[in-house]
Amino acid sequence: MAKADEQQAGLWVVDFGSQYTHLIARKLREQQVYCECVPPTPAPPQADFKVRGVILSGGPDTVGAGDARELPAWVLALQVPVLGICYGMQLLVQHFGGRVGSGEQREYGATLITGVDTAFDVDLPADVAMWSGFKRPHQVWMSHGDHIEQLPAGMSVVARSERAIAACVGQGGRMFGLQYHPEVEHTQHGAEFLAYFARQICAVRERWRPSSMLTALRHTLTKQVQPSEHAQRILVACSGGVDSTVALVLLTQIFGQKWVKGVLVNTGLLRLDDLERMQTLGAELGVSLEIVSAEGEFYQRLKGVSHPEAKRKIIGATFIDVFSAYSQAHQDSYGYLAQGTLYSDVIESGGGGVHPRLIKTHHNVGGLPERVPFEIIEPLRYLFKDEVRKLGQELGIPHGILWQHPFPGPGLGVRIAGEIDADKVKILQQADKIYVDYLHQHQLYEQIWQAFCVLLPVKSVGVMGDQRTYEWVIALRAITSTDAMTAQVAEISMQHLTQVAARIVAGVSGVNRVLYDVTTKPPATIEWE
Ligand code: XMP
Repeated sequence: MAKADEQQAGLWVVDFGSQYTHLIARKLREQQVYCECVPPTPAPPQADFKVRGVILSGGPDTVGAGDARELPAWVLALQVPVLGICYGMQLLVQHFGGRVGSGEQREYGATLITGVDTAFDVDLPADVAMWSGFKRPHQVWMSHGDHIEQLPAGMSVVARSERAIAACVGQGGRMFGLQYHPEVEHTQHGAEFLAYFARQICAVRERWRPSSMLTALRHTLTKQVQPSEHAQRILVACSGGVDSTVALVLLTQIFGQKWVKGVLVNTGLLRLDDLERMQTLGAELGVSLEIVSAEGEFYQRLKGVSHPEAKRKIIGATFIDVFSAYSQAHQDSYGYLAQGTLYSDVIESGGGGVHPRLIKTHHNVGGLPERVPFEIIEPLRYLFKDEVRKLGQELGIPHGILWQHPFPGPGLGVRIAGEIDADKVKILQQADKIYVDYLHQHQLYEQIWQAFCVLLPVKSVGVMGDQRTYEWVIALRAITSTDAMTAQVAEISMQHLTQVAARIVAGVSGVNRVLYDVTTKPPATIEWE
């Protein structure tokens, strides 16, 4: 996350390569505790805020193995409380002379832990009590192959699972270790423990707010980006969605309209009203926004391509070509390309950890090619959707814009399963508008996190006006979520669903069947491609 202003106090989260590291940061920020993620470099990072504690993340290494990341000396030299999570706990235990073993006791997934009787006798500072959550057996999320065999002198067990030490404390309450992940949703009371560590043990009293987020982003971005006349203007890739709009307004408020230009590429894969809406958006938000037409180019390059990742890559590369051409047409004056990439996009594209797995190449504009003739800026990279909305509110962006459902950079390109052509786009645009308008009319839109239609590469037989039809199938998707990492199926009544289906089949020629997608994420993703 970005640097705080000088008065801010908070925590450092040392990233040992866990895919959950930024979830730790998010859980803390949600509870108004400032924190920054830093790498375990031998030299201490520079702090622009008062560091009152350190959290060591999990990670894929095995402590003591040849290439394992080590506990940097500066962590303990700071003389602030330290919480080790999973690999972080094992590092602490080993450092103080305990023993870490591998195999046998490995645990994955939901696991019950129970506090031990002596947990509340440990030596803590007079004004601090042990976290009472350990008194209640509860479920936590484990994901470890190695485990603690023996704690060092001065550390005591606080809680156990059936197979391993789940939590320990030492050094007069200044060192905590958790074998489980308090940062993930499936751990009961996980956020509560993190708050206890930050507020009680580290004594962080300051409250981090969205306005502090703005100050911090301003601080980082002015250091990172220096716009100038010569090839250093900022071009913001706008999709018509929330994130790129927030990125555009943020950058314009920091650097001014002189340097920041939003470009919405008409890919031919936008929703029906997007172009019209975008015509007036610039003036409404006080930003400079231009629409560039490139439908022909996108359609031509996507012709005959059906694999989702291939489509994403083509869309990403075409975007970059359009932006490069735009910059060339303007004396090559754009050196930066800004995107509204979110943290969930980063994780799912395989960028969230040291050994990440690719789920799909999320990027605001689709899968970017390896080489791009711009320096990429992603100011929202460590934020989740709800945080972006708070930031947008802070920036004065109207409610209706912030609370529109997310729309992916590759647009309808990932909602037409398989091959894309202009006729299919037209069908999908019309069906989607009917669905979304219906949700608005029935006050359902804001209860749903994201809703859209998908055009399936399947035709089915129907009967309309005594005639046999053989036409396309539309799937309706509607989900609830907080951060797009997991999603539940929105419970729209059957009455509403059948009405939407009837309107689509009656109103869109080429469609004779409508389905409702009842799959959660995981195992499905929100988009179909
Ligand atoms: P999935 O389908 O991965 O989507 O469950 C999670 C959220 O991310 C959006 N999404 C994207 N957003 N560029 C974006 O800006 C992309 O390439 C992209 N792919 C998916 C999706 O709409 C959902 O909100």
